[in-house]
Amino acid sequence: MNRTTAHYAGITHGRDQSPAAPLMTLTYRSRATSPLSETQLGDLQHTAAARNRAEGITGMVIYSDNRFFQWLEGPPASIARIWSSISRDPRHADIEALSVHAAPTRLFAKWSLKLTTGQGDPLIEEVTASTVSSTNAGAERLAALAIAAEPTEARRLLTAAYTEFRSISALTELLIEPAARCLGDLWAADDCGEYDVTLGLCRLQTFLREVAAESVQQRVEHPLVVLVAPLPGEIHMLGATLDAEALWQAGHDTRVRFPSTEQALERIVATNWFDAIDLSLSPAFSRQHRIDRMRHIVDSVRRASKNPALVVIAGGRAFNDRIASSADVHADASCTSAAHLCEDIARARGSRQHEQAGVGIPRAL
Ligand SMILES: Cc1cc2nc3c(=O)[nH]c(=O)nc-3n(C[C@H](O)[C@H](O)[C@H](O)COP(=O)(O)O)c2cc1C
Repeated sequence: MNRTTAHYAGITHGRDQSPAAPLMTLTYRSRATSPLSETQLGDLQHTAAARNRAEGITGMVIYSDNRFFQWLEGPPASIARIWSSISRDPRHADIEALSVHAAPTRLFAKWSLKLTTGQGDPLIEEVTASTVSSTNAGAERLAALAIAAEPTEARRLLTAAYTEFRSISALTELLIEPAARCLGDLWAADDCGEYDVTLGLCRLQTFLREVAAESVQQRVEHPLVVLVAPLPGEIHMLGATLDAEALWQAGHDTRVRFPSTEQALERIVATNWFDAIDLSLSPAFSRQHRIDRMRHIVDSVRRASKNPALVVIAGGRAFNDRIASSADVHADASCTSAAHLCEDIARARGSRQHEQAGVGIPRAL
């Protein structure tokens, strides 16, 4: 099946290359018309990366078992031009666009075109193959390894994936967050206990901290002071850890706290100035029964906050699965991946300022 045209319909060919132009992400998979040698792959990557650089495009292409999976991100007009070339390229067929959507951020900012074959490491081969075939197998594998008696292979998988992708955001969104949800699914199917889920999440958190140890903090002109905290009572801290890592890497003044009660959290926001607070529920369980409590806590945090215009972001699996929305918990926005948190905060602050300027409808809390 070739769905390229349908998915492509929303993209125009204008030449808007301004830095403020919105970002778009396009993913597709395809089948090589004949096997590509290492040299042919190298040539493809070399010419493609040069054109991507000129077009302001970044991304990754995986070649495994004669199949391609590609992730492209950049200004919509550039994506349209490149996509038009790619979809006419005789080196592959059965091109199936998987997603085209506005993207708040780049996952592969450092790569004009990262080429991955995963060859040489069976674990990475499995992860790349699962990405190519658009299955969740890589995340499922990581989840299973994270609750094994010995977590050595889970650590090795994450380290190898980081070596391959060199992007904590990509690792987070493509592997760690889906693996956390897989742990929740294993529990829901009675394939593991609650203790295993908590253990698995802790291990993912530890291994992420290990690979992120060498990350460098970016510089931003006006860093925000952001409080990152699991919702009081939430024992799963992986979401907060991923969020804190993303904010820190982006150059923000990130304070991580683990208040055990609502009152402790109120004291923190009453005695310190924060531009934003990121409150998270479990990344593995939907925590439907905690939604009312989260709304109650968000209201009390706003009342106690030293900053009357505090921006509140809510995260956790409940928001990925659309069990709850930001409005349900009186937050300014919900965040479905740490990889997009900085943009979610920026957007929420933008709408807040817009409201305060009297343009929008004031919040009625
Ligand atoms: C799997 C695959 C991925 C490709 N990825 C890109 C890419 O990211 N950027 C790019 O400029 N060309 C890419 N190409 C090459 C284009 O299809 C095309 O050959 C090249 O951009 C030249 O464009 P033109 O034939 O319209 O002159 C890719 C080709 C294949 C087979």
